[in-house]
Amino acid sequence: MGQARGFLAEGAEARVSEEDFLGVPAVRKVRPEKSYRPEDLDRRLRLGRIRTEVRLLRDARRAGVPTPLVLDVDEEGFSLVLERLPGRPLTELLGPGAGPLSEQEALCGRWGTLLGRLHAARISHGDLTASNVLWDGDHLTLLDLSLGSREPDLEELGIDLHLVEEDLNTLSAEAPRLLQAFRAGYEGVFPGARESLTRAQEIRGRIRYA
Ligand SMILES: Nc1ncnc2c1ncn2[C@@H]1O[C@H](COP(=O)(O)OP(=O)(O)OP(=O)(O)O)[C@@H](O)[C@H]1O
Ligand SMILES: [Mg+2]
Repeated sequence: MGQARGFLAEGAEARVSEEDFLGVPAVRKVRPEKSYRPEDLDRRLRLGRIRTEVRLLRDARRAGVPTPLVLDVDEEGFSLVLERLPGRPLTELLGPGAGPLSEQEALCGRWGTLLGRLHAARISHGDLTASNVLWDGDHLTLLDLSLGSREPDLEELGIDLHLVEEDLNTLSAEAPRLLQAFRAGYEGVFPGARESLTRAQEIRGRIRYA
């Protein structure tokens, strides 16, 4: 069934590799055991994140936020098979010299629109950094929703925005311009934007003066 191919990424919690799944270009995302956690807890956490990811990838797509289709779920093997999307993560496109600033602003505006739609649909992402957004030259797609939630509170919305801001600050010297574009996209589609942006600002203040 799954024909293993190249290795894509190894994060703290998941291992992502390319494979052909019944002839469809796919990636397999495996959540390996963490031996420092008690076994029971570890299994529950891993399963929980897989189930959350499956549910939120679907809910986000229904809310008009593109996400990869889930091709298979293997709970015994703690893995998920997703359609493999073309494109590059935004990390590669927003760094210094990666492209004209106007193009980077346009990308950030679209990224903000995606998060605005997600929040308007009462979904938070939970780990929104530029490496979890793919650009194929036409479309942006959101990845990695395993830390997201349904019916998020204001704090969770603020954290999503705060993470984007921190990530842009690390990626680019033009972060203020890129953030402005991001926020414009976000505000354009999410009626609750004022409140969540204010909360993000409070979070920033709390961290700074902690
Ligand atoms: N469907 C996909 N198509 C193409 N590339 C993908 C796909 N899913 C993931 N990738 C690539 O693999 C990388 C890691 O995937 P992902 O962000 O889902 O996992 P992770 O960050 O390791 O996991 P987590 O944070 O949930 O523990 C992505 O940044 C992206 O480059
Ligand atoms: Mg990721």
